[in-house]
Amino acid sequence: MPLYNLTNRPRRLRRTSALRAMVQETQLTVNDLIYPVFVMEGENLKQEIVSMPDCYRYSLDLLIKEVKEAYDLGIKAIALFPLVTDDKKDNEGTESYNPNGLVQRTIKAIKAEVPEITIITDVALDPYSPFGHDGIVVDGEILNDETVAVLAKMAVSQAQAGADMVAPSDMMDGRIGVIREALDEEGFTHVGIIAYSAKYASAYYGPFRDALESAPKFGDKKTYQMDIANSREAITEVELDIAEGADMVMVKPALAYLDIIRQVRDYTNIPVVAYNVSGEYAMIKAAAEKGWIDEKKIVLETLTSMKRAGSDLILTYFAKQVALMLK
Ligand code: PBG
Repeated sequence: MPLYNLTNRPRRLRRTSALRAMVQETQLTVNDLIYPVFVMEGENLKQEIVSMPDCYRYSLDLLIKEVKEAYDLGIKAIALFPLVTDDKKDNEGTESYNPNGLVQRTIKAIKAEVPEITIITDVALDPYSPFGHDGIVVDGEILNDETVAVLAKMAVSQAQAGADMVAPSDMMDGRIGVIREALDEEGFTHVGIIAYSAKYASAYYGPFRDALESAPKFGDKKTYQMDIANSREAITEVELDIAEGADMVMVKPALAYLDIIRQVRDYTNIPVVAYNVSGEYAMIKAAAEKGWIDEKKIVLETLTSMKRAGSDLILTYFAKQVALMLK
């Protein structure tokens, strides 16, 4: 039996907008969006990030308002990133598990004001490290197991403050298992792990590193983040993270890695998350500012492509804008 008959006319199902809606295969909804936010010390501060127009670093008091607005638009989760002042940075990232640190205070304040929103915290050393690397540096090398021990403390400290999920973005080997065990030992069996499993050594993170002043002070991240040319290796990372206890797995960046999202989707049944990263955001904003593209349409098309590729959830700086558009 032939799969298609030659009298089939696909345009029949595109004739009216009602028909098109009926056969639409992918829907982007507000439930798919995770909103990454930047918090800084101080009061009444809202600083635009130069390379990310319309995206701001907020002091805690103003961040709470921003998160409330996001929640009122229907956004179910935020991902929290801190701008740590230089005096708090050290090679061991000790500030990352300070119970009164910026992230910990922010989690508590958001939980008090917007208790229903899901708080996802970033687990990595780079914002806390004077070297801007995701691990402890000795003689120019990034130590693995010593770093993982700190990451476990950081994750427990974030859970103690009230984080709903922790998201290790560091790419050290074995960290998911160690973090899972540490959380369980401290009674946080209900706190989930979103593993940045396939995180590439990408040039698309540039604007984010501006936002957090966290660019590596020497070298690059290629000894821990993945080679941009690899795809089978992404599945190896995903396999390991799931075996170690990840509740969700992430592919990052998203747009230049739609093939990886698809492969991960086909490999696993647990939720797949895509990170529409800062450089992807900046490219759209810059071209739209010049009037060269239609920003709203491009944003919806871009995020829909990530869902179509197989991601269940998308971290995106466009979250609020999209939530408004979908209303
Ligand atoms: C660091 C981290 C990075 C991003 C999220 N967590 C940057 C990096 O790995 O250097 C990038 C996010 C973005 O570009 O939007 N652990």
